[in-house]
Amino acid sequence: MPPPVQPVRPVFVNLGPRSYLVQVGRDLLKTLGEEVNKKLPDRVKCAVVTDSNVGPLYAETVLESLRSAGKEPHLITVPAGESSKSLSWSESVLGEMVRAGLDRKSFVVALGGGVIGDLGGFCAAVYQRGIPYVQVPTTVLSQVDSSVGGKTGVNLPAAKNMVGCFHQPVHVVADVDTLDSLPKREWNEGFAEIIKHAAIRDASMFDAIKNIADGKGDLVALIRRNISIKAAIVEADEFETIGTRALLNFGHTLGHAIEAAAGYGKLLHGEAISLGLRAASWLSAQISDLTAEDHDKIVSLLKRFDLPVRLSDDFDTEELMRIARMDKKFENGKIRFVLLRKPGDAYVCKDVIEGHLKQALEELRK
Ligand code: NAD
Ligand code: GLY
Repeated sequence: MPPPVQPVRPVFVNLGPRSYLVQVGRDLLKTLGEEVNKKLPDRVKCAVVTDSNVGPLYAETVLESLRSAGKEPHLITVPAGESSKSLSWSESVLGEMVRAGLDRKSFVVALGGGVIGDLGGFCAAVYQRGIPYVQVPTTVLSQVDSSVGGKTGVNLPAAKNMVGCFHQPVHVVADVDTLDSLPKREWNEGFAEIIKHAAIRDASMFDAIKNIADGKGDLVALIRRNISIKAAIVEADEFETIGTRALLNFGHTLGHAIEAAAGYGKLLHGEAISLGLRAASWLSAQISDLTAEDHDKIVSLLKRFDLPVRLSDDFDTEELMRIARMDKKFENGKIRFVLLRKPGDAYVCKDVIEGHLKQALEELRK
């Protein structure tokens, strides 16, 4: 008999009337229905939105758990991958929610990685002007980052996350056991966001990350630590208005441009962010106080997870700049670019100009 699973204290995301718990641990899918009932006792009908990889693995457990708790779930499956995070797929999901008879008293369960969390959350946000949703993240990236904080949305062909809204989940269940089925590449990409969290907020986490790369260390504790970092930042600046939440964009200005230029799905989100992290770390060493040694530490950690740190010559600098200009971090021609003073200490710099970004892109090719 395996030893009993020790419960881990959930992370509370304190957002006043929009507060919620993030459960993190093992073997949590079975009790999802019970937990949902605590938060949404009077709601019965729901859509479980998932993708074609995750559905066959975990949907039945989730549907069964919801049914045992008296809910009436309807499964909606979209193709796996970033291209489902689109307006046309959101229209399909919303249409299926109508056909399944969901109304204003219904809710959504987003079961999958960040694509499903963003798409399912967006559908919940706009369906009949907004119904609640529960996040059940199944990738490293979605457990440590995208399932917490309420950013929902879809891409436009021209640029990432161009359509969306803030809509906090009412509950999050991060079952670390689901990560056992993640392919290696998808496992690795999640560490780009973990390394980002260490770089901007918690330099002492670098050692814990190294331990996981070495096949030791406590994965549940590392994921919980990252959820706490994300939760604290979201609590400080829910709607990204005072510059604190913007720190989470470290590596994302160029990362998003690279992701969109590659064509959605060619580079995984975390892989594009890895390139963006190297570029932003290099700029931090050029125009801020990051030491070359700390820059190298970040880059070598990215490499430990086989994350890309060199930009292929297939990418054209002018094209990347054109896409970057559409980013929400460009405002009236100015860039809100996140730099590091040292590991764990990030700030929004207003002095970064386009020439700096071009230099960083050239450096990325070396
Ligand atoms: P993803 O959802 O595409 O998942 C990656 C791949 O893993 C997919 O093929 C999926 O089918 C598969 N998969 C998921 N869980 C699995 C499991 N347990 N076992 C086997 N296969 C599994 O991608 P992602 O990396 O999780 O998320 C990336 C998305 O998240 C991007 O669209 C990004 O913009 C978004 N994001 C959003 C936020 C936010 O705050 N909302 C933050 C960071 C990233
Ligand atoms: N991942 C960026 C944010 O949640 O703000």
